Amino acid sequence: MHVEARKITIIIHFGFIAVLSSIKTPSANAVELVGSMALSGGHKDRELRVHESLDELSTDLADYIAELSEASVKERGVFAIALSGGSLIGLMGKLCEAPYNKTVDWAKWYIFWADERVVAKNHADSNYKLAKDRLLSKVPIIPSHVHSINDTVSAEEAADDYEFVIRQLVKSRVISVSDISDCPKFDLILLGMGPDGHVASLFPNHSALEEKDEWVTFITDSPKPPPERITFTLPVINSASNVAIVATGDSKAEAVHLAVDDVGSDSPSVPAGVAQPLKGKLVWFLDKAAASKLEGSQFSA
Ligand code: 6PG
Repeated sequence: MHVEARKITIIIHFGFIAVLSSIKTPSANAVELVGSMALSGGHKDRELRVHESLDELSTDLADYIAELSEASVKERGVFAIALSGGSLIGLMGKLCEAPYNKTVDWAKWYIFWADERVVAKNHADSNYKLAKDRLLSKVPIIPSHVHSINDTVSAEEAADDYEFVIRQLVKSRVISVSDISDCPKFDLILLGMGPDGHVASLFPNHSALEEKDEWVTFITDSPKPPPERITFTLPVINSASNVAIVATGDSKAEAVHLAVDDVGSDSPSVPAGVAQPLKGKLVWFLDKAAASKLEGSQFSA
């Protein structure tokens, strides 16, 4: 397929260094904004990818995941990836199709959940079931590499149990360890984002957001049903090599603005705004509707 790509480097005056690239294909026009944010006080690496359509976003997301998988397998022999629930899983669907279904080294994948609803694995609300039905059952992942939560115990026990499993896999180096915290360093943590700006099951103004000691915590009062969930804590998310936040649709636009733009301390902070790996890279995958309230007219729908 003929693909014409051009890249223009522009500097925007919010401490951003951005690369705007227009990629034209016969099938579609994708507009992708790629920005690396230069902030004081440490290494922060952030990229925004804004897509014209969900189809293009899905292709880009599949490419991104496949590339990280390849790099990780080359470097460490395995790929430790954490999923969330929600629309993210449907948007990962292209991984089940050619070429990814054949080219990705699925046997090297180890699957985790950044958050899970505390329900039976065969319940319609289960993030495990969603991923299994839509993704995991369609590619040759080794069943013993799929680490879902214990669904026979309380939320508190499920969180403890999941942290124990992760600790064992850090010891055996299936999951790396961060050199700046004692936290696990996942190769990739994939997050959706709610209209309130929550990521994983870290909701605005909830004490779980402040948890610093545990790797996995639990909540029993989730504002988004079902109420009982386990979730990676912020230190674990921010110790990952790569974090991607995938948000689409108008309902996410305000939260994207609050999370991404430099809104100052008078505006409410949202959990997605503090998800930023300390030494890794954050990539936002947005459609134009979700990007429509970002500062800078080039993002407007
Ligand atoms: C969950 C999810 C949750 C989800 C966001 C976004 O268990 O509810 O893990 O964190 O990713 O709520 O969901 P949507 O993309 O469906 O809006």
